[in-house]
Amino acid sequence: MEKKTVQEKTELMEKYENETGNLAIWNGEVSKDFRKWKKNKKKEQKKKEKKQELLSSKKEKSKLDEKYEQGQKAGKDYDHLIVVEQLHKTYLLGTTAVAALRGVDLTINRGDFVSIMGPSGSGKTTLLNLIGGLDTPTRGKIFLEGQNISMLSDNDLADIRRDRIGFVFQFYNLLPQMTALENVMVPLHFSGKLSRRGKKKRAMDLLSLVGLEERAHHTPSELSGGEQQRVAIARAFANDPAIVILDEPTGDLDSKTGILILNLLRDLNERGATFVAVSHDAAVSEFASRTLHMRDGKLTHEGKVGGLKETEMMEFKRKKEAEINKEKCKSKVFQFLFKNQGRQEIPISEIRDYLPEHILNNLPEHLNDILREIVEDNNIKGKIIDNTIILD
Ligand SMILES: Nc1ncnc2c1ncn2[C@@H]1O[C@H](COP(=O)(O)OP(=O)(O)OP(=O)(O)O)[C@@H](O)[C@H]1O
Ligand SMILES: [Mg+2]
Repeated sequence: MEKKTVQEKTELMEKYENETGNLAIWNGEVSKDFRKWKKNKKKEQKKKEKKQELLSSKKEKSKLDEKYEQGQKAGKDYDHLIVVEQLHKTYLLGTTAVAALRGVDLTINRGDFVSIMGPSGSGKTTLLNLIGGLDTPTRGKIFLEGQNISMLSDNDLADIRRDRIGFVFQFYNLLPQMTALENVMVPLHFSGKLSRRGKKKRAMDLLSLVGLEERAHHTPSELSGGEQQRVAIARAFANDPAIVILDEPTGDLDSKTGILILNLLRDLNERGATFVAVSHDAAVSEFASRTLHMRDGKLTHEGKVGGLKETEMMEFKRKKEAEINKEKCKSKVFQFLFKNQGRQEIPISEIRDYLPEHILNNLPEHLNDILREIVEDNNIKGKIIDNTIILD
């Protein structure tokens, strides 16, 4: 009878035999030499695995480094509030393609008041709508606070529009059945962050920011064009946006009222608001900190409008007039206070109503600041609290 082999030959033994030419099993016993070889093999295998591990972690590290570097590069975009890269927009009208934007590059920083000027059809509204997330580009990128908004879904874009961008249009776009206060409260309802009382308080503060707290309960038809636009500006600020974009903000107003609105925008800009406004109106450029010019879907150059000499002259005249108006305003305020002797509380809105329109329309500072100056100079004894002068 044949003796049964105790050991079955394994794959590894096969390998050993092929490699060394010796038998792994001899007389039914596993050879010592094979055991040694097997041990060494295991060691080698472990070494190999470790090496592999090290290599892949190195690869991982260099990948991470690369990502970090890219992040650093992208981080540069965070320095700018808005970065627009090679923006193209083509509208399809039947079978005709209209190239409204043809490669626009632009950066906007926090605190800028950018005015974009250009002839009709040059692409101003198209550019503004893309920056405001109202439309998406055909090609190119728009970074808002470091986020590429040209890639977002409709829902995400709607969130960005609600939380980060304020809009002001030529025709105010107020809801006609609602009061000024209710109109300003609309975006607050959508963001749902405040209680009803909180919303009302915020809306009232915003109306007072644009000098309209006394008109809070008027509907748009009971307000002048300039007042309606001020309500629209207050509404644009409701959700504390990163930027407010304005399309022809003075387009529907006479030039005097237009200047009043621009004065307000400059005032808000000086307090930190960022604006980008498109307009035909050269006056907008007078008030903006930067003016960009567009033609045929491209930005052509940056710089103020008109001959420099004329602009300087205009600016000089306007500023001088504003300073004179400030003095006139102060004496009118004293006149008003004299007439109202004995009263302890005087709402600023009453003073505003008392002042002639032509003075109010061109002041170098916000009326509240001028009143504060009067009080601080100790010309009258009292203080200003919540848009009211409290006399001692
Ligand atoms: N929805 C649309 N469909 C097709 N073409 C459009 C559309 N909107 C704008 N365009 C075209 O794109 C070009 C740029 O238009 P856009 O409204 O941006 O110009 P604009 O500079 O704002 O002009 P304006 O000063 O008259 O307001 C124009 O030729 C216009 O006809
Ligand atoms: Mg337009």
